[in-house]
Amino acid sequence: MYSDLAHYFHLLTAPEDYAEEAAFYCRVLTEACIKPPRTLLELGSGGGNNASHLKSVFQLTLTDLSSHMLALSQTLNPECEHIQGDMRTLRLERLFDAVFIHDAITYMTSLDDLQKALETAFIHCEPGGAALFAPDFTRETFRPATEHGGHDGKKQGMRFLEWTWDPDPHDTTYLVDYAFLLRNEQGVMHMEYDRHELGLFSRLDWLHLIEEVGFQAKALPFEHSEAKPGDEIFLGIKTIR
Ligand SMILES: C[S@@+](CC[C@H](N)C(=O)[O-])C[C@H]1O[C@@H](n2cnc3c(N)ncnc32)[C@H](O)[C@@H]1O
Repeated sequence: MYSDLAHYFHLLTAPEDYAEEAAFYCRVLTEACIKPPRTLLELGSGGGNNASHLKSVFQLTLTDLSSHMLALSQTLNPECEHIQGDMRTLRLERLFDAVFIHDAITYMTSLDDLQKALETAFIHCEPGGAALFAPDFTRETFRPATEHGGHDGKKQGMRFLEWTWDPDPHDTTYLVDYAFLLRNEQGVMHMEYDRHELGLFSRLDWLHLIEEVGFQAKALPFEHSEAKPGDEIFLGIKTIR
């Protein structure tokens, strides 16, 4: 999905569907920072879907492991800075008023990797600023599910089946298997199968690691019309010493 099929990403999940959650992240970050944040670093910014809404409020620096996803985001957010990098190791030698990691944080599949990504957020966050982390699930809120969706573009189209399941409830990962039906410009269909291994950590592990890297940690209810009971996001507040 993030390489050969990246050009279909906005048909998997459309930028316009992110307005409500982006408004929530914007409000939470603004309230968490000592002064209204202006600069925002996003780690794992993907197709730039959240960014397409956040950019009216923040000056955005968008980073991702995948050059294909950055290229796609550039078509949607040409006015934003785009930089390729791994959220575990990226070091820009600059500070930002706020840092954001949306669902890309779920690609951290061990406590060690999660800690590295949180450290990257801490290192790039201005004292008095804050970082927001939005995993799809914690161990406590994980729900197996089967969903389907997709969109039509001007010329291409996509439909998908998404199957979320956890083969081993005792480890720190779960799986999301996708079947994609992809229709190209000539109307020709082809199918792809894509497996994503994602991280699953307890709420206490999240709060502990956020504190461990130097932030003050908070969990907040995810306020969204499609949120399920217990869904939360995590905040790291970087206090001024
Ligand atoms: C679901 S997409 C993110 C979409 C994004 N939330 C948006 O608003 O468009 C997940 C992204 O995480 C990126 N990713 C996975 N592992 C990463 C890592 N170690 N460092 C940086 N980005 C990573 C992938 O390349 C992919 O673009």
